[in-house]
Amino acid sequence: MSTATTAHGRSQHSPGDDVLVEVTGVKVHFPIKRGVVFDKTVGYVYAVDGVDLQIKRGETYGLVGESGCGKSTFGRALLRLEDLTEGTVIFDGVDVASLQGEELRRKRKDMQMVFQDPLSSLDPRQTVEALLLEGMNAHGLAKDKAAANKRLRELLSAVGLPAAALKKYPHEFSGGQRQRIGIARALSVDPKLIVADEPVSALDVSVQAQVINLLEDLQEEFGLTYLVVAHDLAVVRHISDRIGVMYLGSLVEESDADDLYAHPLHPYTRALMSAVPVPDPVVEDNRERIILVGDLPSPANPPSGCRFHTRCPWKQESKCDTDRPELRIVQIDGVPQGHRVACHYAEQIASGELQPHEVKAVATDQTGDSSDEAGSMFEPEKL
Ligand SMILES: Nc1ncnc2c1ncn2[C@@H]1O[C@H](COP(=O)(O)OP(=O)(O)OP(=O)(O)O)[C@@H](O)[C@H]1O
Ligand code: SF4
Ligand SMILES: [Mg+2]
Repeated sequence: MSTATTAHGRSQHSPGDDVLVEVTGVKVHFPIKRGVVFDKTVGYVYAVDGVDLQIKRGETYGLVGESGCGKSTFGRALLRLEDLTEGTVIFDGVDVASLQGEELRRKRKDMQMVFQDPLSSLDPRQTVEALLLEGMNAHGLAKDKAAANKRLRELLSAVGLPAAALKKYPHEFSGGQRQRIGIARALSVDPKLIVADEPVSALDVSVQAQVINLLEDLQEEFGLTYLVVAHDLAVVRHISDRIGVMYLGSLVEESDADDLYAHPLHPYTRALMSAVPVPDPVVEDNRERIILVGDLPSPANPPSGCRFHTRCPWKQESKCDTDRPELRIVQIDGVPQGHRVACHYAEQIASGELQPHEVKAVATDQTGDSSDEAGSMFEPEKL
């Protein structure tokens, strides 16, 4: 849906009330500079290259894709931590790109980020109390000492830490506890949206589930909306209501989480899914296995047409390497409404009319020059 906005960023035709974030045609391109004196731009990294999606109030949107596909850049762009090259982000009815100075600062309260590595995102010289008070003071949420103290204790209790944690420093905690502090910090300013970028990737597996459960509990308690970025399908599946699969800067598929697992339609998603082990041994022995061949192409020189065509086992002679497929709603028997796929042949692949074929690996270097040398076999399990 296109949304016109005024010079003040107020939306004239705001999207439905149930939509908190409306992203339209978002691109983030980083210039590649060469030369000491003139700093000449010799190209661009097309980190995010055309993303359209909506995040509904109170939902968890999971964004998944292999390393370097642009997940973090997209998350940062949502919060205006990166400038958009093109496109719009309407957050709660306001065009985020139009906000400047004080308006932007105030809006930041509503959009918080939780990072992968809490140790590097928490200032080691500050106590937990100081870390939590920082945002509250900046946004006028710690009106007096008694109120601030009460709120600090509530925050710690919400994330399952004792009040004694307030006087300690980040290095005195375990990884899981530090992530709890990172989450408390994000919560301290009472946000509407939390972008959690690989929130459990740095944690032991046993601690991952606890932090995921905590995020789910907090969502219910505080009515939060999440964008959870992860390369691990298992993490995303557990927590998400809807999932977007990203490949080289754009979405290739999006649907409700259960639907995506039941009906992965895009060849890339099918390859990702085929690498996820299934607990049932009979299903495990018979399930589809697609091993992707070749490395992820460079986002500085993405392939023409469908960006996945260099690795796609279903690639066809027509259209695949010339026309970029749009992310479109597909009508396929048994597939619920609203499932979106960016593949010219989604219907024929789903029906079995088109069958996968062998893919010859193409090695692509950073400049995008390709050769016929076999690239490394890519195990989707490792993403
Ligand atoms: N500030 C920047 N300047 C230039 N290139 C950048 C910058 N930030 C990111 N990139 C490049 O943009 C691409 C996307 O990076 P991004 O960090 O968004 O990917 P990601 O999907 O989050 O990967 P990961 O799973 O490894 O975190 C990468 O090729 C990265 O090198
Ligand atoms: S458009 Fe072509 S290359 Fe791209 S995913 Fe579909 S079949 Fe594969
Ligand atoms: Mg990242």
